Amino acid sequence: MCGIVGAIAQRNVAKILLEGLSRLEYRGYDSSGVAINNEVGVRAHRAVGKVQALKDKFEATPLDGKIGIAHTRWATHGKPTENNAHPHFSGDDLAIVHNGIIENHDKLRNQLKTQGYVFKSETDTEVIVHLIHQELQSEPDFLQAVKNALKYLEGAFAIAVTLNDQNHRLVAARKGSPLVVGIGIEENFVASDQLALLHVTDQFVFLEEGDVVEVTRDGVTIFDSQDVIQERPVHVFNHNVDATDKGEFRHYMMKEIYEQPKVIAACLEGRISENKVLTDCFGADSSFLKNVENVHIVACGTSYHAGMVAKYWIEDLANLPCTVEVASEYRYRKVAVPKNTLFLTLSQSGETADTLAALRKAKELDYLTSLAICNVPSSTLVRESALTLLTNAGAEIGVASTKAFTTQLTALLITAIAIASEKGALSAIKEAELVNSMHSLPAHIDEALKQDVAIKKVSERFANKHNALFLGRGPMFPIALEGALKLKEISYIHAEAYPAGELKHGPLALVDEDMPIISIVPHNSMLDKLKSNLQEVAARGGELYVFADKDAELQNAEGVIFTEVLKVDEILEPIVHVVPLQLLSYHVAVVKGTDVDQPRNLAKSVTVE
Ligand code: F6R
Repeated sequence: MCGIVGAIAQRNVAKILLEGLSRLEYRGYDSSGVAINNEVGVRAHRAVGKVQALKDKFEATPLDGKIGIAHTRWATHGKPTENNAHPHFSGDDLAIVHNGIIENHDKLRNQLKTQGYVFKSETDTEVIVHLIHQELQSEPDFLQAVKNALKYLEGAFAIAVTLNDQNHRLVAARKGSPLVVGIGIEENFVASDQLALLHVTDQFVFLEEGDVVEVTRDGVTIFDSQDVIQERPVHVFNHNVDATDKGEFRHYMMKEIYEQPKVIAACLEGRISENKVLTDCFGADSSFLKNVENVHIVACGTSYHAGMVAKYWIEDLANLPCTVEVASEYRYRKVAVPKNTLFLTLSQSGETADTLAALRKAKELDYLTSLAICNVPSSTLVRESALTLLTNAGAEIGVASTKAFTTQLTALLITAIAIASEKGALSAIKEAELVNSMHSLPAHIDEALKQDVAIKKVSERFANKHNALFLGRGPMFPIALEGALKLKEISYIHAEAYPAGELKHGPLALVDEDMPIISIVPHNSMLDKLKSNLQEVAARGGELYVFADKDAELQNAEGVIFTEVLKVDEILEPIVHVVPLQLLSYHVAVVKGTDVDQPRNLAKSVTVE
C-alpha cells in the first residue's frame, strides 16, 4: 500500500528519500515520486513502475535540496500513471504526498473547481493540496493553513506537505493511516513505516490519531487532535538485524519462510514454562481468561485463516463457542454479543483499516475485553486494544505472509491453552503434554524445511497450470485455504480450497486431468475420511498431490504425487504442515517468473478499505 517518506536536513535529502522508497517497496505500489524543495522552488520527478525507474530519472536529471517528500503509490483513485503519481502540487511551490482515501473528495473537487482550481490528476490527494493552497490565501502561516484545510477532509489520511517559503519546515498529519517521525541529529524525518528510515535513524516517535506535526531541522512539534502541543515518547528501534537485508536468499519470502524456527521460538519465549502457559504474558490483568464464555475472532486474509484454525483449538481444548469473521463484514453489520465474549483481533501489521474499524466498533459494544494478536508493537491495533499478545516475528517484507502466519498460530495456541487451563477445561497433565509439544515446534519446522528440495521438484509440474484445488479436513481446512491463497497471490494461478467433504457437493465437477488437487493428509483422526475423498478425485482422472506423513501409508501411484511430511502431534499439524504449502507456492512462483516479494496489485499493509 502507499508509502510516505519526508526529510529535512543540512545535506541533500534526495538519496535519503530514494533509499526510503526502496525500503517501502515491500508494501506494494505501482508508481513513485519525489519532490525536492530548494532555493528555486519545489521540483519533482515521478515514474510508473519500480522505484528504480525513479532513480534513473534522478540519475539523468539530479534534483538537490535539503527538504523533500517522497511517495510510493498503490492506485485507488485513478490508474497507475505518472500524472496520478504523488507528489501532487498546487502552484509551483506547494506539494503533498498522501496515504489513505478522502471520502468526500468529489464534493471538494467540485467546490475547488468553481473557485478556479485546475486538476491535473484523477486522485483524491490533489483535493488536499488545493485546499491548503486556498487556505494560504487568507492564512499566511503554513502550519495553520494545513490545520485549517484538514478540517474539510472526511476519510483516512497520512500526509506530508512542503511549501517553498522562508520557514524551512515540513508539515505532516495523520488520521486513520500510520505515520512516524524519525529523530536524527540536526535532521528529522517522517515516514509511514519506520523501516523506511532505518538507514538514517533508529529513534522514532509514533504519531497518534489526529496529530499534526511541524518538523524542522532542529526539532519536532506535535499538536494533538485538540491542537494542544504534546510530548510523545521516543522509541528506539530494537531489531538486531535490519530486516530489509535479504542475506543469502534470493527473495524475502524465502528468507522469512526459513526464519520460522527462530521466530516461533521467539514467540514462545517467556510465554510457556516447562509444562504450562504463563498467563501473565497477556499483561498484569489476565482475569479475562477465567471469565470468558465465548470468543469472537475478527481478521482479514491470512490472519483470518489463522483465526479459523484457532476456532478448532478453542472449541476443542476450552470447550467454548468460538466464531470467526472477516473484518470487512463485521464492521458493517448489526451484531449480537453473547455475554462475556472476548473480542480477539489478528493482524500482522496492526494497521489493516477493516480490522481497526472492527475493533473500534467492538469497543462500543458489550464485550468482555479486546485482545490483539499482532506483530507490530507500535501499531495502532496494539495501542487501541485493551490487551495484546505480540507474535515477535520481526519485520516481514514479502507481501505474502509466512512467518507472521505461523507465529500468529503459535500465539493463538498459547491463548487457547491458557483459556482452557484457566476455565478448568484442561487437566494439568494434558496442559503439560501440549506445552511439551510446543517446545518442539521450532525443531519440527526446521525438519519440515528439509523437504524444500523435494517440493521444488514437485513445483515444476505447476509451470503450465491455470487452476488448482486444495483440500483439507478439520483444522487442515483453513490450512488448505491458506495454501490456495499463497498460490494465487504469488503465482497468479487460480486456486480454491474446500473442506474435503464438500467435494461431491459441487467442486467435483471441476476435476479432470488438468486440475491439480493438493491435499494435506496428516495421519490424524480424519485420515480415513480424507482417503475416500481422494479416491473420488482419482476416479475422475484428477492429478493428486498428497502431502502426508509416513503413518498415512500413502505412496506414489498412477496420478498420485506423494510428498512425505513430518509426523507431529495432532495439535501442531496446522503450524508445521503449512510450511510445505508455503514452499510449494514460492517455488511455483519462481518457476513462473513472477515478482515473488511484490506480487501485482497487492499491498503489504492494507490501510484503506
Ligand atoms: C496474505 C496476506 C494478507 C493479510 C491481510 C491482513 O499473504 O498477508 O491476506 O493477511 O491483508 O493483513 P494484517 O494481518 O496485517 O491485518
